[in-house]
Amino acid sequence: MNILILGAGGREHAFAWKMTQSPLCKALFVAPGNAGTAEVATNLAIGVNDFESIANAIREHAIDLLIVGPEEPLVRGIVDFLRQQSDLKKLKIVGPTAEGAQLEGSKDFSKAFMARHGIPTAASQTFTADTLDAGLAYLENHALPIVLKADGLAAGKGVVIAETLVNAQDTLRNMLGGQFGDAGNKVVVEQFLRGIELSLFVLTDGKSYKILPEAKDYKRIGEGDTGPNTGGMGAVSPVVFANESFLHKVEEKIVKPTLLGLQQDGILYQGFIFVGLIKVNNEPFVIEYNARMGDPETEVVLPRIQTDLVELMVATTDGELDKLTLRVSPQTAVTTVVVAGGYPDAYQKGEIISDLERLEEVTAFHAGTLAQNGHILTNGGRVLALTAQANSLENAIRRSQNAARTVQFDGKQYRKDIGLDLIRYAD
Ligand code: AMP
Ligand code: GLY
Repeated sequence: MNILILGAGGREHAFAWKMTQSPLCKALFVAPGNAGTAEVATNLAIGVNDFESIANAIREHAIDLLIVGPEEPLVRGIVDFLRQQSDLKKLKIVGPTAEGAQLEGSKDFSKAFMARHGIPTAASQTFTADTLDAGLAYLENHALPIVLKADGLAAGKGVVIAETLVNAQDTLRNMLGGQFGDAGNKVVVEQFLRGIELSLFVLTDGKSYKILPEAKDYKRIGEGDTGPNTGGMGAVSPVVFANESFLHKVEEKIVKPTLLGLQQDGILYQGFIFVGLIKVNNEPFVIEYNARMGDPETEVVLPRIQTDLVELMVATTDGELDKLTLRVSPQTAVTTVVVAGGYPDAYQKGEIISDLERLEEVTAFHAGTLAQNGHILTNGGRVLALTAQANSLENAIRRSQNAARTVQFDGKQYRKDIGLDLIRYAD
């Protein structure tokens, strides 16, 4: 089968790496990919939002199966666009239509969806420029801290946790005043929930589903969860505090109502749903939905999946997930993300990466890299995700951290505390 993966990050390298392990994978393409995907697949120099060129590449390379990695093309309707191409009727696509992707593309949509279907989430209200005064008054009457979320995609920067009323009101004015462009036309103001977060991944064919291994992401740049948010500095799977009884609650109170809600709303959803959860007093609440896999969570989730990934993807598009058994390794996977100097603010690109060949006991997933003149160069904020699997959390952490220490480039940064908080729970 000929397969195309859209995207250019560590998530897409992990997908490509896993797919090459399948006997069903005949030819593999990644658009646009990175230096890591080029080692296991053929990169195509096409942007993820260039739908016409993607359709043409699908024709040219007789692609049978398409996996859409990032959210932007999903929210912009790539699946709908390709479905309208009369000569691509047989193409199998993993990823929701624009309507389904609204779970991620509009916070207001996802809050209304959860309210409609009785899914536990923080209390909230949505405001627009026309209701700014009501929003400012709402902030005065609600407890601090309070969470403000730009409705649309804002590259991970659209959420502010305001500690003071002044900050909350300024944030509301700024967001509704165009700070995030159209993404801030609506702002969701939400109750702050105090708890511990984890990410759960559901693969659905529109009827049945598989719950993939859960993961914990480390979002802040600094150790001890300090400093600004990033795309993700590391991840661990499994998450020890997500025990069987908690995961059962998540399945009953969140996963099943979400999938039933999509069906009741007439949305055929075939793809991944990433549920950002917070555990408060042993009860799960949804912080957000994403319409795709997480990055760097994919780099710890996929290595633990033992079922053929191509088979899983095909079953998703054929509505036959119930016919497959999901097999998961009991090992712990830890990934440490090595990022460029300056990240998550302005950062340097084009630094030579060395000592990749010295890495042992890890899989090095490339995130922002570029192969040029025999060198591998940094080409993004997040550069590499170094994943280790081991029988214990401690060993997986040690191997992943050793690799992060070994690899070199000017300005390299990484967090040295990935997974350490979980050792406490494991004892
Ligand atoms: P998001 O962009 O929706 O993933 O939000 C970014 C981060 O903000 C989340 O990972 C949480 O750490 C935090 N967050 C979002 N909503 C809430 C909430 N209602 N209560 C507490 N923290 C939140
Ligand atoms: N790691 C968080 C995300 O993929 O959105």
